[in-house]
Amino acid sequence: MRHMMSPLDLTVEELDNLLHLASDIEKNPDKYAHACDRKKLATCFYEPSTRTRLSFEAAMQNLGGSVLGFSSADSSSAAKGESVSDTIRVISCYADICAIRHPKEGAALVASSKSGIPVINAGDGGHQHPTQTLTDLMTIHSLKGRLSDLTIGLCGDLKFGRTVHSLIHALIRYPNIKFVLISPEELRIPSYIRQDVLEKHGIPFVEMERLEDAMPDLDILYMTRVQKERFFNEEDYVRMKDFYILTKEKLSLAKEDMLVLHPLPRVNEISVEVDDDPRAVYFKQVQYGVYIRMALILTLLKWKEEP
Ligand code: CP
Repeated sequence: MRHMMSPLDLTVEELDNLLHLASDIEKNPDKYAHACDRKKLATCFYEPSTRTRLSFEAAMQNLGGSVLGFSSADSSSAAKGESVSDTIRVISCYADICAIRHPKEGAALVASSKSGIPVINAGDGGHQHPTQTLTDLMTIHSLKGRLSDLTIGLCGDLKFGRTVHSLIHALIRYPNIKFVLISPEELRIPSYIRQDVLEKHGIPFVEMERLEDAMPDLDILYMTRVQKERFFNEEDYVRMKDFYILTKEKLSLAKEDMLVLHPLPRVNEISVEVDDDPRAVYFKQVQYGVYIRMALILTLLKWKEEP
């Protein structure tokens, strides 16, 4: 049985098939309206979420299936001390597939090892967020027409931002990808990604602090919020939180066809005045998240049923 822990769980060919399926779902939603009749998705969220949980639920409902689950650890028996391993064994008796979000790195992997149903990592601590990455890839592929030959600026909290870590893992498999890593010194990309992923695979990248300096060369600007929930003290967070604010003035330095993505939620790092610029595609990105999650649910359930 296949699970979805990291974007690398899919080969490039499987990823292409998934993007193709998601695109067909976007164009022909009625074709898929009963594809998951009588199937159930469990959403087990030990951490807050708006997009990921609700887009998974919308995705399953669009496929004719139903959903059950919990949206906080406090409203589940985790509050009484139940382990993730026991919880997933129980959920396996109720549902056909499960999306899990947990504050601890590796929690989804632990769940998958004890599960009787496919498990999707919906975010594990500061580690990975593979379905956000699938969403990001579909957004770039749909709006740019390619996943190769791109200079991608990743800006903000590159230390704790799990969406950035997953996106780097996924994009290095495509030809001629360059990264511009834009962050304050304290929020630089972790060395395990710089050395073991970027340097190891010979991927060109530069690190810089000023967003304005990076802007003119970028095909994609991927903004991220400072991850308040991963800081050890409030003082450091307050010092860092407004380090980057994308304004109309800064955006005027960018190419006419550069795209601005953001996994959301936005706090203050993109001024609302930017929202009307045609290059700001972060709300389109949200819509792509539903199609790609529909494609993922269908694909994992199909693989489960294959001998
Ligand atoms: N992008 C994302 O993961 O958003 P939520 O935290 O609202 O799910």
